[in-house]
Amino acid sequence: MRYSWGMLVGSVRAALGLFFLGLFFLASPALLAADYVGSNVCRTCHPNVFATFSRNPHYKSIASGKEKPENTGCESCHGPGQDHVNAGGGKATIPVAFSGLAPEKVLDACLRCHSQTVSRANIRRSEHTQRDIVCTNCHSIHSSPAPKFLLAKQQQRELCYECHASVRAQFSMPFKHRVNEGFMQCTDCHNPHGAFAATWNMAARPRMVDQAVGNEEPCLKCHIDKRGPFVYEHAAVRVDGCETCHNPHGSTNARLLKRPVTFTLCLECHNGLGNFGRRLDGPQNPSASHNLADPRYQNCTTCHVRIHGSNGSQLFFR
Ligand code: HEC
Ligand code: HEC
Ligand code: HEC
Ligand code: HEC
Ligand code: HEC
Ligand code: HEC
Ligand code: HEC
Ligand code: HEC
Ligand code: HEC
Ligand code: HEC
Repeated sequence: MRYSWGMLVGSVRAALGLFFLGLFFLASPALLAADYVGSNVCRTCHPNVFATFSRNPHYKSIASGKEKPENTGCESCHGPGQDHVNAGGGKATIPVAFSGLAPEKVLDACLRCHSQTVSRANIRRSEHTQRDIVCTNCHSIHSSPAPKFLLAKQQQRELCYECHASVRAQFSMPFKHRVNEGFMQCTDCHNPHGAFAATWNMAARPRMVDQAVGNEEPCLKCHIDKRGPFVYEHAAVRVDGCETCHNPHGSTNARLLKRPVTFTLCLECHNGLGNFGRRLDGPQNPSASHNLADPRYQNCTTCHVRIHGSNGSQLFFR
């Protein structure tokens, strides 16, 4: 026998190498380059899907030609297609068939790439995810009629109204934000992908109300004169939040107020109860000088005009 020590080591190495290479492929079939056939192969049997795909933002991965196979074109979402093609098609052979995926799996599939723009933590604990409303309920990859964001409906509001019918009625009230008129959108105030817990309205449910810069209420993006900071803040505005006094969608009362008569709104807090605030005795009662039976005193904001906060008067007179 003329086997040298070196040859033995060499062949053991080779055998081990092959063994681990085999394990590697067994453990991760998705990495087997040969399993990916490229999007042009899909075109032969799915010409309709392919025809519209060049207008899809996901087409960029094909156009650039620089992405890895698992991030390119059709197979970036549906997985490697070799088996599917060999079998002549069929739902069972394509690794990712969305029609059969559980909501949680859809979320995982899309978040593989989209966790930069869509906050993973927020979307996972959002009211939508908790009720199994996921990406494909709102986005249509292959047949979106919308000009932007692959929405499943042409108009964003129609998409939302499909499930939130009562909100449509709120935006049809006499006083409302002009969402139905197309002047603004649900996403001016909400993030359907979930939002951070509100920094206002202590411990209230966040209701996916999106935060503007500085963790502010989104209202302040547009109503900048209410932003402050004011020398004399009205705690109700800063701490409780705008929706304490306003119905954000719409109202039968002018100024979107929650109550038809202003003073009833004020007296919900200014009634002598409570133990918080600067003097630890809660919101003050209107002083004895206020005769609430006198109509002159009932419209509180004719005198306390700077009700959202003031730089000149502790009692918001100017
Ligand atoms: C040889 C023809 C053929 C080729 C090539 C082919 N498919 Fe298919 N594919 C089919 C057939 C047939 C079906 C079954 C249609 C049905 O059940 O209505 C199908 C179904 C599908 C489905 C639907 C699964 C579901 O949710 O119902 C997806 C997704 C799919 N193919 C993706 C691909 C992708 C991606 C490629 C390229 C890698 C590809 N196909 C290439 C024939 C083909
Ligand atoms: C961004 C992810 C993504 C990419 C990329 C993608 N698909 Fe799909 N595909 C989906 C989703 C999600 C569905 C389920 C239906 C839906 O939501 O539109 C689907 C459904 C399908 C179906 C089922 C029939 C239908 O129209 O619903 C076929 C076939 C299909 N895709 C083929 C393709 C082909 C071919 C390509 C490449 C040209 C491709 N897909 C690229 C996500 C994707
Ligand atoms: C392989 C990575 C990848 C996967 C998986 C993926 N996407 Fe995308 N998606 C992208 C890229 C890249 C873009 C283009 C971004 C751009 O235009 O800069 C995009 C764009 C989008 C857009 C449009 C954004 C815009 O600004 O118009 C939507 C909506 C979207 N994807 C939803 C989905 C959904 C829903 C899924 C799951 C069915 C999904 N994506 C799966 C990579 C991916
Ligand atoms: C309840 C409906 C809904 C769900 C669920 C949803 N989206 Fe969206 N998504 C929207 C709307 C509406 C827009 C448009 C936002 C706008 O106009 O500013 C959007 C925008 C986007 C955009 C482009 C703008 C951006 O924020 O980067 C991407 C990418 C996107 N969605 C991906 C996803 C992914 C991935 C999922 C699942 C993990 C998902 N969406 C789930 C409604 C939804
Ligand atoms: C496919 C159905 C569906 C679609 C589409 C949908 N939602 Fe929802 N949404 C739900 C369900 C279910 C809940 C949880 C139950 C509830 O509170 O109404 C929810 C909850 C919410 C909440 C929180 C409500 C609360 O009480 O905390 C907001 C805000 C919301 N959705 C806004 C939107 C917006 C904005 C859109 C459009 C971009 C949209 N939704 C699209 C089904 C949907
Ligand atoms: C001007 C900002 C704004 C706009 C625009 C807006 N919302 Fe809201 N929405 C809010 C605020 C703030 C709350 C929380 C109210 C509260 O906690 O009392 C809310 C609450 C909700 C709720 C939960 C409470 C309820 O009334 O059922 C749903 C659902 C909802 N919005 C859906 C929508 C939909 C759908 C659209 C678009 C058609 C939309 N919102 C547009 C600010 C807005
Ligand atoms: C995208 C910008 C925008 C956002 C965000 C926004 N608003 Fe408005 N708001 C307007 C405009 C513009 C008007 C003027 C009335 C109209 O559009 O018909 C208005 C009107 C109002 C009015 C009635 C004013 C009047 O003179 O009758 C109130 C009250 C109000 N908004 C409160 C809020 C609250 C509270 C929020 C947050 C939940 C909010 N707004 C978010 C743009 C916005
Ligand atoms: C303590 C109750 C209260 C809170 C909290 C409150 N408002 Fe008001 N708001 C009012 C009253 C009352 C009026 C009507 C004033 C009048 O009739 O002169 C009003 C009027 C308005 C108007 C229309 C008139 C104007 O001054 O421009 C807008 C816009 C408005 N509020 C936005 C907001 C925003 C944004 C927030 C949150 C930052 C907010 N409000 C918080 C009570 C409140
Ligand atoms: C959500 C509860 C709430 C509502 C509603 C409310 N306030 Fe206040 N208000 C407060 C609190 C809390 C303070 C601060 C008390 C303190 O710091 O001691 C305050 C302070 C004031 C002050 C300054 C008084 C002082 O002692 O510094 C005036 C004036 C005032 N509110 C008027 C009004 C008017 C007018 C309305 C109706 C448009 C109104 N408030 C609605 C909670 C409320
Ligand atoms: C005609 C003008 C006028 C009207 C209307 C008016 N106030 Fe006043 N308010 C004042 C004046 C002046 C003071 C300070 C002097 C005083 O105590 O009489 C004051 C003081 C207050 C204070 C501070 C009390 C304290 O002890 O610190 C509160 C709270 C208050 N008003 C709430 C209200 C409420 C709520 C309404 C509506 C029901 C209202 N005001 C209507 C003029 C008015």
